[in-house]
Amino acid sequence: MIDVNKIRKDFPILERKFNGKRMIYLDSTATSQKPIQVIDAISDYYKNYNANVHRGIYGLSEEATDLYEKSRENVSNFINSKQAESIVFVRNTTEALNLLAYTLGKKLKDGDEIITTVMEHHSNIVPWQFLKEKGVKIKYIDINEDGTLKMDEFNNLITERTKIITVTHVSNVLGTINDIKHIGKIAHENGSYFIVDGAQSVPHMPVDVENIDCDFLAFSGHKMLGPMGIGVLYGKKEILDEMDPFMGGGEMINEVHLSGATWADVPLKFEAGTPNVEGAVGLSAAVNYLKNIGMENVREHEKYLVNYALKRIEEFNGITFYGPRDSEIRGGVIAFNFKNVKNEKIAKALMDEGIMIHPHDVASILDINAVMVRSGHHCAQPLMDRLGIPATSRASFYIYNDLDDIDEFINALDNVKKVLKL
Ligand SMILES: Cc1ncc(COP(=O)(O)O)c(C=O)c1O
Repeated sequence: MIDVNKIRKDFPILERKFNGKRMIYLDSTATSQKPIQVIDAISDYYKNYNANVHRGIYGLSEEATDLYEKSRENVSNFINSKQAESIVFVRNTTEALNLLAYTLGKKLKDGDEIITTVMEHHSNIVPWQFLKEKGVKIKYIDINEDGTLKMDEFNNLITERTKIITVTHVSNVLGTINDIKHIGKIAHENGSYFIVDGAQSVPHMPVDVENIDCDFLAFSGHKMLGPMGIGVLYGKKEILDEMDPFMGGGEMINEVHLSGATWADVPLKFEAGTPNVEGAVGLSAAVNYLKNIGMENVREHEKYLVNYALKRIEEFNGITFYGPRDSEIRGGVIAFNFKNVKNEKIAKALMDEGIMIHPHDVASILDINAVMVRSGHHCAQPLMDRLGIPATSRASFYIYNDLDDIDEFINALDNVKKVLKL
């Protein structure tokens, strides 16, 4: 088990107080906090190494290039990719998925199909919807009552026109951990590309691209202790090699003439313009921090927290949570809403108005107790439609959270009941 007290000391922001209370940060699904090791690595980069990369032949530029490329290797090892060239630095998961929709999308024809799921983040839906203009059809796998995917539907929906299957590894709302290895097999048996949205898995559990055998994996640095503005697209090198570039400009070319241009080798082919060197360096420091703790330990810790939190929520009586109860197939995220308004007058008034206890109100009242949760549709409106709700509140956990945080969270939920007279 991990030593949360020791870890917390590495996160300066967690010393902040709100309303005179210790801050309880339960929104790591949106973005994680950053340890001093990451902050120092970025500051060290600017103090001692800053220069543009891949361009200068002077020593400082070579050192900056070296740091950038070593960061790539470190990230590559972290997900057990065999080649550093498989790692394309992008801004975030969203950019990685847009890159794929643009480049793979170019190969698709009228009538081709993409399979994804109803539990995706908008960033794994909207970029594919752009392809509808070309006549590409998108099919969505539904969920069971417990928030797991209806796995049978993959075999029912797949056809020879299915060119891409793209699925989130862990849902940012339901917490469901999908059996992506199995889905990948279905995709490959059909000759389809298999894409994994790893935004909520890579930060929280061991992810091994060789073992999963995905063609692509997308994730964001800022959700895994790293800085904002740096993300990763992993791709099998032989597929990246044959793909067209996404953006044009400096860095991504081999030669340019007025008559046309040729492309640099991967990964630079996909990294047009000056890259986010500081971000790559910071992400590498974040990877080192996580490796030090051990990703198995991160996963075990979150399982322990989510089990405890679900037990406390069940005892609390009056809250609906979404997604599976079994922590073996659930990440450290709990989306929830208030149900059972016991005060009859209030229940009737709410029903008459056709409204619910709005998650924004819940989050605002939790904030009085310095408990920070997210509220809204969590960029998963199709999932909200499927669940028949407009929004939820959502608490999510990471390495700096412990049982005390969950107790404070439950106490704050009690306060919501009092304030709203439920
Ligand atoms: C499952 C999932 N996919 C994609 C994203 C998008 O990440 P980003 O905003 O860093 O691009 C998120 C962000 O919350 C997410 O949870």
